[in-house]
Amino acid sequence: MVAAQTTVSPGGRVVVTGPVWPNVAEIPRILSGQVEVIPVEPGQGGWRLDMDRLMDALTPDTQALFLNSPNNPTGWMLPADDRAAVLARCREYGTWLIADDVYERLTFGTDRAPSFLDLATDEDRVISTNSFSKTWRMTGWRLGWMVVPPALMESVGVLLEYNTSCAPDFVQDAAIVALNEGEPWIAELRAELVAAKDQVVGGLNAIPGIEAPEPDGGMYAFFRIEGCTDSVDMAKRLIDEAKLGLAPGVAFGPEGEGWLRWCFAARPEKNAEGLRRLAAYMNR
Ligand SMILES: Cc1ncc(COP(=O)(O)O)c(C=O)c1O
Repeated sequence: MVAAQTTVSPGGRVVVTGPVWPNVAEIPRILSGQVEVIPVEPGQGGWRLDMDRLMDALTPDTQALFLNSPNNPTGWMLPADDRAAVLARCREYGTWLIADDVYERLTFGTDRAPSFLDLATDEDRVISTNSFSKTWRMTGWRLGWMVVPPALMESVGVLLEYNTSCAPDFVQDAAIVALNEGEPWIAELRAELVAAKDQVVGGLNAIPGIEAPEPDGGMYAFFRIEGCTDSVDMAKRLIDEAKLGLAPGVAFGPEGEGWLRWCFAARPEKNAEGLRRLAAYMNR
C-alpha cells in the first residue's frame, strides 16, 4: 500500500502480471490507478511471461510496474536475464518498479530469486517490498520491510506514520533474532518446501485430468482440473464433498479462473491425505 501510495496517482497507468496475489492488482485500483494485467501462462516446463507483451505494455505514461516474483499463486519466477531489459525500460520512461519479493528465499533449484536490487542504483526508481511472513514463518505477525531509494525515505516515513504508525517493538525484537539466527531454519524450510513441492506437484500430475505446471518458487501449486470453468464452485464442492480446502484461482484475478491453488506448506502426511481425497473425488 505504501509503495503504491508513493508512486500511483489517480488515473495513472499501472502494469501488473496476472494471476497474482489480489493485493498487488487491487491496491493500485483502490488508488484509482488504471491497471493493465499481463498474463503469466502455463507452458512446457512451467509458467512463462511473454516478455514482448510486458515490454509493449510499458509505455512512456506507465507510472508503475508491480512484479511479484516468485509469484503467488503460480510459482512463476522472472528469469535473471530478463531483469536488465525491464529495468532499462523503466529507467527510460521514469516508471517505478515495485518488486514484491516476499518469496525470494523460497526457491527451488536456486538459492535465491533474482532481485532487481542486484542491479539497481540509489538513483533508480526501484522499490522492493518484503516480509517476515514466509521465509521466517512469522505469518500474521504483520512485519515486513521496504527497500527504497534514499530520495524516497522521508515521504515513505510520513506515509508509514499515517498507515501503521509503527510495528510493535516486541515483534521487531523477534525479527532481529530471526535475521541474526534464522539461517538454519530457512535451510530447513526450503528443504521441506522442495520435498512438499515434489510430493504435491508430482501427486497432482499423477491424477488423470489434472495439470499442474512446475513452480519455480513459493509455496503453492497452481493447477487445473479438466473441464473446470468455475473455480469458486469447484473449491466449494471440494470442501463439501472431499473435505479439501483450496483457493479458487479467480481470487487471483480473471486470469486465474478455472484454476485452483494448493498451499503445500504443510506436513507430508497432510499433503498426502489431501492428494488421496482429491484423487478419490476425481474417481467418484
Ligand atoms: C505476494 C505476496 N506479497 C505479500 C504478502 C503479504 O504478506 P504479509 O502481509 O503477511 O507480510 C503475501 C501473503 O500471502 C503474498 O503472497
